[in-house]
Amino acid sequence: MKIAVIGAGYVGLVSGACLADFGHEVCCIDRDPRRIENLRAGRMPIYEPGLAELTAANVSAGRLFFEQDLATGIRDAEVIFIAVGTPSRPEDGHADLTFVYDVTREIAAHLKGYAVIVTKSTVPVGTSDEVERIVRSLRPEIEFSVASNPEFLREGAAIGDFKIPDRIVVGVEDDRARAVMAAVYRPLFLNQAPMLFTDRRSSELTKYAANAFLATKITFINEMADICEKTGANVQDVARGMGLDKRIGPKFLHAGPGFGGSCFPKDVRALIKTGQDFDVPSRIVEAVADVNERRKRRMGRRIIAACGGDIRDRVIAVLGLTFKPRTDDMREAPSIAIIQTLHDAGARVHAFDPAGMEQAREVLGDVTYFRDPYQAVAGADAVAIVTEWESLRALDLKKMHGLMRRSILVDLRNIYVPEQAVAAGFTYLSVGRGD
Ligand code: UGA
Repeated sequence: MKIAVIGAGYVGLVSGACLADFGHEVCCIDRDPRRIENLRAGRMPIYEPGLAELTAANVSAGRLFFEQDLATGIRDAEVIFIAVGTPSRPEDGHADLTFVYDVTREIAAHLKGYAVIVTKSTVPVGTSDEVERIVRSLRPEIEFSVASNPEFLREGAAIGDFKIPDRIVVGVEDDRARAVMAAVYRPLFLNQAPMLFTDRRSSELTKYAANAFLATKITFINEMADICEKTGANVQDVARGMGLDKRIGPKFLHAGPGFGGSCFPKDVRALIKTGQDFDVPSRIVEAVADVNERRKRRMGRRIIAACGGDIRDRVIAVLGLTFKPRTDDMREAPSIAIIQTLHDAGARVHAFDPAGMEQAREVLGDVTYFRDPYQAVAGADAVAIVTEWESLRALDLKKMHGLMRRSILVDLRNIYVPEQAVAAGFTYLSVGRGD
């Protein structure tokens, strides 16, 4: 099949490369000429394991193309995915659909024959209806369908998530679009990936409901961690005991400094807004957003308390800055609020991250960066682990202890065994383990 993907960002590129790998002919379109030039030269604009290799293989097989001009890119395409950003509107937290509707108008202007226009971007309920209305009003003579097909990719594991999905959700309103979308995903169908066809509104809401539920799960276990700390229980045992119940499941029950990233915080805010717009406020989701925001700064205050309450001119080393491992993404990372809190209290911050330091420079204030975790902790009064990168899981604690001025270790991801940290000479604090 001939497929166009508009928006060569995270979702667009991963989807484009994977669809090409299924054997489709895919053109990824982006209005940014530098991005297209870089992609044509094999340079990826994002950090995602395996993406550069998958892209290169499909480009050389003649199945994957990059194009700046939308009219050229969508020519003869049977399916046109819209995968542009839907950022939070600063004024009210709702998803900003400017890019989606701009692209819709452009598609309408250049559509030549029947195509299925698919919203892949995370869009609020009713957006696909509006896309249909816009195209119909601009091109009443053209036959087309609009489908909703949300993505469930995790950064750092996106290719696996695309190729071996738990499910594919497709919202359609007509049989022709349904048949086309089934053909797009036929290779996965053969792998028995469940494909769920719904109406468009249910498909759009499924994406928000899934993300908000996962965010709730995390927030819930974080609250249990707080209770564990006060009562002397161990949140990891509690999470395991809960997770073995098949109705609950073990995933997304890792207590930590709160969720961040480009999706959960934004989608939670947008769902809250949808609830308010339709006069059905979602009290649970509102609480999740509020509790999570407060938690990030509270983690900063925890580090301060671990240092005795006064950290003026103290050096605090922060290891791990990105919102999670295997990405360079700093969007809404807990490290931002934590470091802000440390700065406000007068500390100097030393930092190390395996991939995110370039991005971190753009969002963090006055931080000194080091290329190695041991250099970052040298001379520090305390060290905080904020992201559970593999390379931070096996640090030589004795060596670290020897390099530091004072030896306080605040492990916000529970990646060390308390007894071992104590044996290495640290005053050790983690999350929900009563230490
Ligand atoms: C999330 C969803 O997991 C994807 O299914 C979805 O497609 C994606 O958003 C999206 O909407 O595009 P992602 O933001 O890449 O993916 O990252 P996650 O692995 O879900 O982690 C999100 C945050 O939750 C991170 O800050 C992580 O540290 C935190 N988290 C996750 C916890 O604190 N505890 C957990 O047990 C799990």
